[in-house]
Amino acid sequence: MSLEERLAELERLKSLSQLGGGKERVEAQHSRGKHTARERLGMLLDAGTFQEIDALVTHRSADFGLDQQKYYGDAVVTGYGLIEGRQVFVFAQDFTVFGGSLSEAVAEKICKILDLAVKTGAPVIGLNDSGGARIQEGVASLKGYGEIFLRNVMASGVVPQISVIMGPGAGGAVYSPALTDFVFMVEGIGQMYITGPDVIRAVTGEEVSHEELGGTLAHSTKSGLCHFPMADEEEALREVRRLLSFLPSNNMEDPQLFQNEDDPKRSVDDLLSIVPNDPAKPYDVRDIILRVVDDGDFMEVQPVYAPNVVVGFARMGGQSVGIVANNPMALAGVLDVDASRKAARFVRFCDCFNIPLVTFVDVPGYLPGATQEYGGIILHGAKLIYAYAEATVPKVSVVVRKAYGGAYIVMSSKHLRGDINFAWPSGELAVMGPEGAVNIVFRRQIEAADDQNATRQEMIAEYREKFANPFIAATRGFIDDVIEPKETRTKIIAALEMLRSKTDSNPQKKHGNIPL
Ligand code: HXC
Repeated sequence: MSLEERLAELERLKSLSQLGGGKERVEAQHSRGKHTARERLGMLLDAGTFQEIDALVTHRSADFGLDQQKYYGDAVVTGYGLIEGRQVFVFAQDFTVFGGSLSEAVAEKICKILDLAVKTGAPVIGLNDSGGARIQEGVASLKGYGEIFLRNVMASGVVPQISVIMGPGAGGAVYSPALTDFVFMVEGIGQMYITGPDVIRAVTGEEVSHEELGGTLAHSTKSGLCHFPMADEEEALREVRRLLSFLPSNNMEDPQLFQNEDDPKRSVDDLLSIVPNDPAKPYDVRDIILRVVDDGDFMEVQPVYAPNVVVGFARMGGQSVGIVANNPMALAGVLDVDASRKAARFVRFCDCFNIPLVTFVDVPGYLPGATQEYGGIILHGAKLIYAYAEATVPKVSVVVRKAYGGAYIVMSSKHLRGDINFAWPSGELAVMGPEGAVNIVFRRQIEAADDQNATRQEMIAEYREKFANPFIAATRGFIDDVIEPKETRTKIIAALEMLRSKTDSNPQKKHGNIPL
């Protein structure tokens, strides 16, 4: 073959690889309201920056007539490009080729991307749309999944890994996303389950639809697998770009500093009015967060799962921070199994990637009850203690109102290496709330009283006066400063500035043994 002939052949092969599974299947993809792998990459990356690799790879299977069906690139498009000028690695499964299923060759392409991402220290984004293991390839496909899982684990805590679920995800197709840091799901399109409705019907007789079983709603409210439920593909890809703006490219870097117009010394005068005087009354802690962070820009993670704790990314003084906040709006802000798991994973992510933690505390304690005990509140609650204690990033907290019992300790307290701990004057720090405390400590006096109710109320008032305040903790140095609510933003930013050069470490070990 002459050089000219080779060039012509190259052009032919490359244009074939652009076609995916062919015009009809592309049309079928569009008719489902879905974009193709290449269209999705076009929306995700800065215009014109995508560099494809392995476009000429094909599967190697000859069984079941597969040698007659070869598609250049096989069922995934891989490569690298830029998001806001920063390097990222990407793979987009191509549902038009064998339903995006994972052949050995597809797995090798994805592994190559993961290896390059770790070597160069850049995030990986996977756009998932796949029928799982390529059935015709048998164990070779399973080996492919194993190789990907191994790399997901090795890359964990080294580079951010993001998954977007834009189609079916069955069997092996769900475990790689589950190993990554953040899962976006597109409503009505993204589905994830280990075994689909047909298998479930056959094995257990249970009737459940694809969407009920593994749709966006299920995973963003029930399992907690989905961090970002998204209305459509465009929104999902836009939000991936936004998420990356808060993150460093790898664990050796700090997140970028963003210059903005929001004055670090801005007084937030209406903060006081958000928190009701009556400690039994709820409020939405997001009203505090939005007023305190730069430009009111808060990217909430898992917004509908365990709403009693709010987690997400923001900037303060231009610096990325991870916010963790009890939310009295839901279950009075109590810590339960789901909230503990949610917050613990978020704290660990921030610690991996050098993102300081800002914690707003208003928590009456851990949720009592047999359901929680049997569900493992001890075990899961311990995760959050572990995560905060282990974290070496700057840790700043503000006790807004209640900080009772074990929940006081866990929420970034001084005793778990909190760096700077503030409290508002409305802060209440004690072993337990006044009502519970008097019933235990003054039970005899109350029982002996003529007017038990009046005596109980007296005791409660006395207890509140003595213990339910931030001053005792401040005299011990457990609270560094009792601040006026309006100073909250200024004080947090000054603390974060001071902590910018913080170094801290944990003892040398292979790895800890977090109570999983
Ligand atoms: C090979 C597959 C495939 C697969 C789909 N296709 N899944 N080819 N291996 N796993 C092909 C179909 O033959 C079809 O080819 C095309 O992709 C589109 O599939 P349809 O069924 O027509 O599409 P749709 O009706 O939208 O249904 C999509 C689907 C369904 C829900 C994903 O295809 C499905 O249930 N697939 C099997 C899912 C599954 O059980 N996978 C294995 C999981 S076990 P044509 O030529 O007609 O276009 C697993 C083990 C790993 O993954 C475990 C590791 C821990």
